[in-house]
Amino acid sequence: MRNLSRRTFMAGLGAATLSTPKWASAAKNNSALALDPLRPQFHLLPAANWMNDPDGPIYFDGRYHMFYQYNPNGAFWGSMHWGHATSPNMIHWHHEPIAIAPTQNGYDRDGVFSGAIVLDRGTPTAIYTGVAPPSSPSEATLKDGSHTWRETQCLAVSHDSMRTWQKLPKPILESPPAGLSVTGFRDPCLWREGKEWKMVLGSGVTGKGGVILLYRSPDLRTWTYVHPLLEGQPGSAKSTNPVDSGEMWECPDFFPLGDCHVLLISTKGKVFWKVGDYREQRFHPQEEGTVESGSYYAARTMIDRDGNRILWGWIPETRPEKDYRAAGWAGVMSLPRVLTLADDRVLRMIPAPAVEMLRGEAAQIRGPLETAPAVKSLAAMRIHNLAGELQITFVPDANHPLSLELRSEADEPFATIAYRAADTGRELSINQTHAALTAPAGQPLRLRLFVDGSVLELFANETAVITERIYIAPKTPLKILLQPRTPVTSIDLWPIKPISPDRLTS
Ligand code: FRU
Repeated sequence: MRNLSRRTFMAGLGAATLSTPKWASAAKNNSALALDPLRPQFHLLPAANWMNDPDGPIYFDGRYHMFYQYNPNGAFWGSMHWGHATSPNMIHWHHEPIAIAPTQNGYDRDGVFSGAIVLDRGTPTAIYTGVAPPSSPSEATLKDGSHTWRETQCLAVSHDSMRTWQKLPKPILESPPAGLSVTGFRDPCLWREGKEWKMVLGSGVTGKGGVILLYRSPDLRTWTYVHPLLEGQPGSAKSTNPVDSGEMWECPDFFPLGDCHVLLISTKGKVFWKVGDYREQRFHPQEEGTVESGSYYAARTMIDRDGNRILWGWIPETRPEKDYRAAGWAGVMSLPRVLTLADDRVLRMIPAPAVEMLRGEAAQIRGPLETAPAVKSLAAMRIHNLAGELQITFVPDANHPLSLELRSEADEPFATIAYRAADTGRELSINQTHAALTAPAGQPLRLRLFVDGSVLELFANETAVITERIYIAPKTPLKILLQPRTPVTSIDLWPIKPISPDRLTS
């Protein structure tokens, strides 16, 4: 994936600042943001400024809480805070005040990085990575070519339904295990196991590759290092930033799913999944793959009200930094996705059914496209205001690859979605982004495309997803063009209702 490494998205920044959060003053004029047609209307994003990773998503006391990496000073990475939004249904969001900010002279003075929330006998407890300048070179655990930081794991609790947070004065974990030359030490993920807490941290060992460090604790405050939950292989390419070469694994998420365990890690600009068994406090992966082929990073999961495992991910910008700085906003949260596993132990994901509550009245076509009524119906279909869901089922056929175009009424190109079966494998693409399809040949394919301003999320059956960014705002609605003999069995198109009246979400 392009331009997503920490080094790239930090490039051009000075040291992170410590200024007071300036919600409104630093933000571009709200009405310009509300009118920006490239801003999504049914994905979560802050009213203005920069967003990255989801942090500590949790269903608590009848509401969903999403925290996220947020820079209140503008639409660029830096001075990380935890932004906060709540929702009754994972779809309609309400912005809350900033949840956790850096403390002056504190262990998190240069940034409140990613982490998790657990309930400690009912008390919401956030554990996150704080970054601060090291007092000696040996304390530095983050060295990416632009910054040198000491990473420590910090704890905060909330006694008012997660509106305000009280930090412990000192970190709960001040340094990595003795004797390890780590490439990073961050992004805690926690769970309860029997009578104790377990925590994993994203890390890596110089020259050896990514590592997930496993810790245990009776009370969330005192931690003992166990051993690596999983170790990777040495990276092939060398790079200044160990995340770019895969020598540092960020944002681990480890959880049970069906009879197996799943580990998600973010590295080299992608999210990777591994499915296997968790035995004797070690993870033994059997299957693995990439969660996404598009613009998607730092994924994290939670359990919804009904017990489903829900995946969230950060959708980064792919346009030049000067463009998103000027736009006044950067970064979007993906739609919630439900994760499942089948006997083949391949991770499957579908958009959470809750997304369907936003559908307007459907336009439908059933049966082959050859008939005159079908051709007429297709010609009349439109996606208005860049907000729609398009669902197409077809039976792949080597002689008739799928090529679907979205073009404006004024005939400006917007997106091309293609499917083809080549000798090298079956492949799906949207514009220049490609994904391999693992579903067996001959099986009907169901494509679900969500168009939301500059964000497109495309699901192919349950195993391949591409999130694409397109920075074109056609003035007229989009029409759908398909090759005449495409073996389509059904097409459904829904307008999607915005989640707020003005793209700002309140
Ligand atoms: C992943 C990441 C995390 C870190 C956070 C900082 O995108 O680099 O490793 O905690 O972003 O914003």
